[in-house]
Amino acid sequence: MTPPPIATRESVREERFHKVWNQDLQEVFADVARYYDRANAVATLGAIGWLERRFIASIPVRAGERVLDVCAGTNAIGLALLAREPSLDVQAIDRSAQMQATGRQRAEARGRRIGSTIGDVHTLPFPDAHFDVVTLQFASRHLLVRQVFSEVLRVLKPGGRFHHCDMLRPANRIVASLYYAYLRPCLAFTAYAFGSGRAAQECRRYFIDALKMFYSADELSVVLAETGFSEVAGSAVLGGTVGFHRAVKPLP
Ligand SMILES: C[S@@+](CC[C@H](N)C(=O)[O-])C[C@H]1O[C@@H](n2cnc3c(N)ncnc32)[C@H](O)[C@@H]1O
Repeated sequence: MTPPPIATRESVREERFHKVWNQDLQEVFADVARYYDRANAVATLGAIGWLERRFIASIPVRAGERVLDVCAGTNAIGLALLAREPSLDVQAIDRSAQMQATGRQRAEARGRRIGSTIGDVHTLPFPDAHFDVVTLQFASRHLLVRQVFSEVLRVLKPGGRFHHCDMLRPANRIVASLYYAYLRPCLAFTAYAFGSGRAAQECRRYFIDALKMFYSADELSVVLAETGFSEVAGSAVLGGTVGFHRAVKPLP
């Protein structure tokens, strides 16, 4: 069966998750900020470190380049890129002041500086053609991706590179069923182990539903190409549960 066009799927996602995205997630990340990095390590059975290293290794950066990390959370990506190339100008944007506060502490502890903007990434408060590189990790499931990707395209310089990594909907139905069956107890255990607050407890179901309605690796490549990116390349690991994409803003 042919899936509905991306525009339709985006509208359905928005209608279904509007309240969670605009209210509940703010509370979730305010709560989760204090244990986010440790909880990720537990929930992924340690795979998060491998995934992040793989993502970072796939991002070429040159001295002095301007980098924007969208939905930067606790600054994992910005700090890893600065460790590789300390002369980068790294800016972070995230809607959660608490996640960014943790990110700021992590940066200070390493003697690094990352500019921080608190705001909704559906409208990026940066000029056109400003950044050489934009990154976005582990957040697109919570976003209207077409709108955010359009904004990413706008703020990139011509020839600038977009690097994306997220949990995806496995294209294989059997893998998908097994994966959701694993996530249910896994999220329950992580929430219990870290003493999650009410909002995070109540969003456990949402986290699985958001994946079910999200895109596979191939579909995300289509979204990027439809947005106007060129040289789109995507790959999936762990049975299609996580995908890496890169794309370029075309030269005029
Ligand atoms: C799962 S965390 C990922 C953080 C980081 N990129 C990482 O890889 O560790 C998702 C982040 O997206 C942010 N976020 C979700 N929706 C957002 C929105 N509409 N605008 C800005 N940030 C948003 C949350 O506040 C949270 O910090």
